[in-house]
Amino acid sequence: MESPDPKPSSGPALHLVAARVTTAGPVQSDVAADGSSQALANTRIELVFDRYLDPRTATRQAVCLRSDPNPVESAEDCEGGVLLNVTYDPAGRVVTYYVDPGQTPSLLPAATHYLTVYRAQGEGEGAGFRAFDGARLEERRELFFQVVDPGGLEPQLPPVVDDATCEQTATSFGVCASCHIRRPEATPDAPANEPPAGLELDSLDRALATGTRAAHGGSVGATGNQLGAKTPAKLGAGMPVLSPGDPGNSYLVYKMLAATEVDAATLAPGETERLRQGLITGMPMPPDNVRENRPDEATVRQITTWIRSCQGGE
Ligand code: HEC
Repeated sequence: MESPDPKPSSGPALHLVAARVTTAGPVQSDVAADGSSQALANTRIELVFDRYLDPRTATRQAVCLRSDPNPVESAEDCEGGVLLNVTYDPAGRVVTYYVDPGQTPSLLPAATHYLTVYRAQGEGEGAGFRAFDGARLEERRELFFQVVDPGGLEPQLPPVVDDATCEQTATSFGVCASCHIRRPEATPDAPANEPPAGLELDSLDRALATGTRAAHGGSVGATGNQLGAKTPAKLGAGMPVLSPGDPGNSYLVYKMLAATEVDAATLAPGETERLRQGLITGMPMPPDNVRENRPDEATVRQITTWIRSCQGGE
């Protein structure tokens, strides 16, 4: 393998390319610039970014949602803000906020709501989205929309995925299993094989058994097991290959995204190359010389959904 990459340099500023709320239908619609969008009181809010995020910055404190029109500069100013739960889908670079159902009221009041997306402050640790290399949002964003309550609404929760859909992921991993399989003895059809990086992807059980540990590629040192020894600041150091429930913190997803772009229309130019240089170590998956085995977008989405919603691999 090649020597570890130097500390990644900061790429271009991060941009919010779309913001969507749940409108009657129910459908997710772009928030109109003039504030005329009518969001249902149980809206979820989707924010789409043009760069891969540092998943640690996709938090509830990165935004402020409230019905007070006064500007908020930072998380400390978000008085009276709605408590939000957050999920991050690294494939499409979508951060989704759900109104926490534990608060009273558990739906938004029918009033104009203001959403502030903070710009992270300087180098520090403060709240605000950052790209994986530390680049900040170009500018603070302020959006507003009307909230309507036609009655009979239940709070929205992250989607539940049925068992059949979870099982289909085994097929999605098929493009990986030609290499990522343990076959101690040759068979009439195939030679003996040692799975690269010890990662077996020929069944969901084996994926979980061999993948819920820190990635070799995210680490350095002769064995690849000295986590972050040389580049502790590099995102991906010590990142698990598979982090059930959290695809944004799953190195396997970035390995695939370095080969297959999802929603390329919203991706910043050059981002895949930056991902290859700055986050992943070793090769994109599958490696460039086996292009015919490349997963398509749907396969990448399927695997990402499985990591998010099929914990335990049942
Ligand atoms: C042609 C053989 C081949 C195919 C096909 C292949 N891989 Fe790999 N994989 C490798 C090799 C070789 C390595 C070790 C070098 C590296 O990390 O880049 C590896 C490493 C990895 C790692 C890093 C594990 C760690 O601990 O760092 C992940 C994650 C991974 N592969 C996922 C996948 C996925 C997902 C697919 C299918 C979309 C796939 N691979 C398809 C050969 C392959």
